[in-house]
Amino acid sequence: MQHLEHNLEVSLKDATATLAFAHSIGVKLRGGEVIELIGDLGAGKTTFVIGLAKGAGITELVSSPSFTIRNDYATKNLSIAHYDLFRISDPGELKELLAESLQEPHTVVAVEWADSLSHILPNDRIKIKLKPMNDDTRSIEVRYPERYGYLFNKTASC
Ligand SMILES: Nc1ncnc2c1ncn2[C@@H]1O[C@H](COP(=O)(O)OP(=O)(O)OP(=O)(O)O)[C@@H](O)[C@H]1O
Ligand SMILES: [Mg+2]
Repeated sequence: MQHLEHNLEVSLKDATATLAFAHSIGVKLRGGEVIELIGDLGAGKTTFVIGLAKGAGITELVSSPSFTIRNDYATKNLSIAHYDLFRISDPGELKELLAESLQEPHTVVAVEWADSLSHILPNDRIKIKLKPMNDDTRSIEVRYPERYGYLFNKTASC
């Protein structure tokens, strides 16, 4: 099935700008969104999730799941399952866990280094690509299906 996709490109001059942009999306999360974060080591994927989680109302410290593989956060309205699959040698072990997170209707699933398991992510996920430019600037490209417009439309009521 063909999904209508939208594109959004922004240039974010430093980590604070990335946190603020992600925060503005985080406040609009409803639960159930699936976000794939794409970019090299140090591109800012985890930084983005930190802003996103704060925007969603997470008050605990949000950190990289690079060693834990998965970190979980929750507010009274939604949960965030933040995965980093970089160190996964056998994706099969994680497949079931990730599949379970994807089934939970109130869980936002954010995945860094999803490549080995991207086939189990829904096709109509949000893709956020971060590319380091000069200095601290990151060029960010967001691709999202129509149904996630409420996260990105400036005119959306929220
Ligand atoms: N514009 C920017 N956006 C995001 N991070 C930035 C920016 N400018 C500088 N940084 C810095 O770059 C680093 C990004 O690290 P982060 O852990 O978010 O990357 P990552 O993509 O998750 O890497 P990894 O693949 O190792 O998990 C942080 O130290 C952050 O402060
Ligand atoms: Mg990271």
